[in-house]
Amino acid sequence: MHPPGALYYSGYNIDNIVGQVTYEEIVHLLLHNELPNKRELDETSLALFSEMTLPDQVIERLKSTSPYSHPMEILRTEVSHLGEFDPKSNDNSNSANRRRAIRLIAKIPAIVSVFHRVRTKKAPVAPKKEFGFAENFLYMFRGKKVDQKERTTLERYMILHADHGLNASTFAARVTASTNSDMYSCITSAIGTLKGPLHGGASEQVMKLLSEINSLDGVESYIQGMLDDKQRIMGFGHRVYKTEDPRSKHLRSLAKALCKEKGMESIYKKCRKIEDTVRKRKGIFPNVDFYAAVVMNALGIPIEFFTSFFASSRVAGWVAHVLEQYSDAVLIRPTSKYVGGFKRKIVPIENR
Ligand code: COA
Repeated sequence: MHPPGALYYSGYNIDNIVGQVTYEEIVHLLLHNELPNKRELDETSLALFSEMTLPDQVIERLKSTSPYSHPMEILRTEVSHLGEFDPKSNDNSNSANRRRAIRLIAKIPAIVSVFHRVRTKKAPVAPKKEFGFAENFLYMFRGKKVDQKERTTLERYMILHADHGLNASTFAARVTASTNSDMYSCITSAIGTLKGPLHGGASEQVMKLLSEINSLDGVESYIQGMLDDKQRIMGFGHRVYKTEDPRSKHLRSLAKALCKEKGMESIYKKCRKIEDTVRKRKGIFPNVDFYAAVVMNALGIPIEFFTSFFASSRVAGWVAHVLEQYSDAVLIRPTSKYVGGFKRKIVPIENR
């Protein structure tokens, strides 16, 4: 059992992981329960790199999406579409599923990047072998060189979002896996679940809130007004953590450093004031999505893409849980408690 307010990946405290290891090492850890040695890390990194391209048919579809579509709708559809191009789609063996897991971890950021490129009428950018995974993701998304600070910031963001126990989207993936359905279906279920504003979609709402508050002086009355109206402040509160979310302090310091570098300190200060106001009034703390929104914004990611960056990181946790669920082979089928009446008589339609 975890101590309250702490997060562990395979027994490693997240506080010791951040800044110590790469995202590729975390992928290996989640899939194998052990940190890789040098040879294993090289293998995992190469396997991920080799899967960062998309079938031509997927790229063509990305070019013809509706201009009103949200990136999470596109991701949900294209992950499902990817299943069609799996040459061994009927093979549900552990080795085939482990290959599929790497494929999905690599291809989800590729879908997000290519979709962003084609939506902004730019050509897709191929990954470079000399770049790490997070660096390649940002490079493919933006099409320009990624500096050291941006690289480490995205890498840490991705590590902090990689897994989080039995959260709603992971649970959705596990329910699908428990029927022995294929991995593409499991991850499609998870994407649809992450999209909601009470889960991963919260960070997009955080940015909307920040844009509605014009100045630092306006923060307190705006937030108090929302709370008086019984509105929820997005990026605050958590079903599990009743103390500070352990990911939040890392994201806060990443946001602070990047905002300073990019001359965006006013946004960071606004966030600190919101945090103070909500804590004093409601006794609740920021969750992962609050400062993640600021980090994404400072990295120049358009708001509508925030949740798809979350998905591009959480897929590592999703596939690890799916592999575990397959090995457990237990159908998840809760019962529900019906609270309506029994023994009802059918009334003829003309009398209803
Ligand atoms: N803003 C304002 N008040 C909030 C709040 C928020 N974001 N989150 C919880 N609360 C308040 C509730 O109003 C309630 O107050 P009350 O006891 O005075 O009525 C109390 O905190 C407990 O809320 P509850 O709904 O029981 O918590 P929960 O565990 O069911 O909710 C969330 C968890 C995540 C759904 C909830 O905190 C929320 O909606 N947060 C905003 C969305 C978000 O950021 N989601 C990302 C989660 S990682």
